[in-house]
Amino acid sequence: MFSRVRQFLFPRIPELAPHEAYRLWAEDYPPYAHNLLMEIEERAMTALLPAVRGKRVLDVACGSGRYARWLHANGAHVSALDFSYEMLARSDRSLARAQADMNALPLESGAVQVIVCGLAVGHVADMERALREMARVLTPHGTLVYSDFHAATRKWKRTFRAQNQTYAVQHFPRHQAEHVAALRKAGFVPETFQAVHVSAELARVDARAQDFRDRWGDTPVALVVRAQKS
Ligand SMILES: C[S@@+](CC[C@H](N)C(=O)[O-])C[C@H]1O[C@@H](n2cnc3c(N)ncnc32)[C@H](O)[C@@H]1O
Repeated sequence: MFSRVRQFLFPRIPELAPHEAYRLWAEDYPPYAHNLLMEIEERAMTALLPAVRGKRVLDVACGSGRYARWLHANGAHVSALDFSYEMLARSDRSLARAQADMNALPLESGAVQVIVCGLAVGHVADMERALREMARVLTPHGTLVYSDFHAATRKWKRTFRAQNQTYAVQHFPRHQAEHVAALRKAGFVPETFQAVHVSAELARVDARAQDFRDRWGDTPVALVVRAQKS
């Protein structure tokens, strides 16, 4: 009886595995940064990228393709992949796209010079395996730039609405030390770790940022990482 009342007052949010979550989420997932976190994460990611003009660049777990679009606009020869057919279907058709799991990349070794992977490594249980695959398909000294939710947000659920219901997507938050260890084991030299904050300067000009800081203060929201294949 009490548990039914509690469930009514505080309904439990079902947590979905990433593939199922993004199948449902895709319909409402446009191919550009569509919230404050993505906007500031994207600024940090693009600032850390090397020059991409004329280079072969792979967007791993491209989703609806916001980074693939940016890379293409900046002169890269882009390939993009994601394991969600529905997310890929939202991305630009003129890009080279494929449905694939980041744990088994369908590319030859040394095929690309740069890899970008936005907000996706946190979805894989075995991050080292995915990073090993990325190291394999990079040329020697190739660059990997990726982002993840910051470990400081590990208690926050990653939720979305679909079919009139709120869902959470499974995510494995990791501390910087775990990223360092996985990168090294996978064959990378970690270069830069940048904690992305909602800054006080931004809050002065952006009401969403002010709301965030009123609630969460200076909690870092994302970690942006740059590493070189050793
Ligand atoms: C938060 S979205 C980010 C999409 C895009 N990278 C961006 O930054 O806008 C995470 C994406 O990772 C994809 N994904 C999660 N696990 C994956 C895996 N093992 N292999 C390939 N894609 C995966 C999902 O389908 C989803 O499109």
